[in-house]
Amino acid sequence: MRHLIDILDLSPAEIDQLIATANDIIDHPADYAEKCHGKKLATLFFEPSTRTRLSFETAMYELGGHVIGFSDAANSSTSKGETVGDTIQVVSCYADIIAMRHPKEGAPMVASQVSGVPIINAGDGGHNHPTQTLTDLLTITREKGHIDGLTIGFCGDLKFGRTVHSLITALSRYKDIKIVLISPEELRLPEYVKHEVLEHNNMTYVETQDLDSAMQNLDVLYMTRVQKERFFNEADYLRLKDSYILTVDRMEKAPATMSVLHPLPRVNEIEKALDSDPRACYFRQALCGKYIRMALIMKLLEVK
Ligand code: NCD
Repeated sequence: MRHLIDILDLSPAEIDQLIATANDIIDHPADYAEKCHGKKLATLFFEPSTRTRLSFETAMYELGGHVIGFSDAANSSTSKGETVGDTIQVVSCYADIIAMRHPKEGAPMVASQVSGVPIINAGDGGHNHPTQTLTDLLTITREKGHIDGLTIGFCGDLKFGRTVHSLITALSRYKDIKIVLISPEELRLPEYVKHEVLEHNNMTYVETQDLDSAMQNLDVLYMTRVQKERFFNEADYLRLKDSYILTVDRMEKAPATMSVLHPLPRVNEIEKALDSDPRACYFRQALCGKYIRMALIMKLLEVK
């Protein structure tokens, strides 16, 4: 039985295969309509979500399967004091596969140790978000045609942004990637990601606070929201929340081929008027999330 807790749980060849399957689903959706007939996905969301939960649920419906679960821990026995381990043991009696999101780093790992069915980490605190990474890799492949050789800028909350940590980890296995880390001093990439991922893999990276200059050399700009819910005090959040706002004016000076990704939700770090710019990929990216999750559910359920 396989789980997806960390993006490195999948080999590079498996990720390529998931991307290929997702592309095939996009081209031939009818071929997949009954692949998970009779199977049940449980979505256990102990933390808010729109795209991740609904794309998982839509993915399962489009594979002909069923969905159970909760979208608010307050509506589950967690509010009575049940542990994650007990909840998972019970739900794994009912469902064939579980996607869970939890505010505590490591909760999906704990879940995988007691679960009788595959566990998918749909985001654990400020740590990891491997299915967003699969989404991002599919999006980059579709927008750019390849991943090797790209210069990718990450802008915003690199400290608490779990999507950033997982995507940088995944990129460590591609060739000739250049990473540009754009953030305020207080929201820099955690030291552990720098040491264990960037430096350990001899990746080329720079850190800067200057978005306008950094943008000039980027193939992809990955914007992120300042993660309000991870701050200890509101004053710090309010001071940092508008550190970077991508505007139409700014984008006029950016390369004509620079793709803008964002895992969403956006607060105000990307001006709404930018949405019609062909370089704005974030809504296409959200759609990619459904297809790659269809491919992942099939893989973990060992559906051919
Ligand atoms: C991200 C997350 O939950 O980490 N959202 C998502 O899953 N698409 C990013 C965020 O909340 O800012």
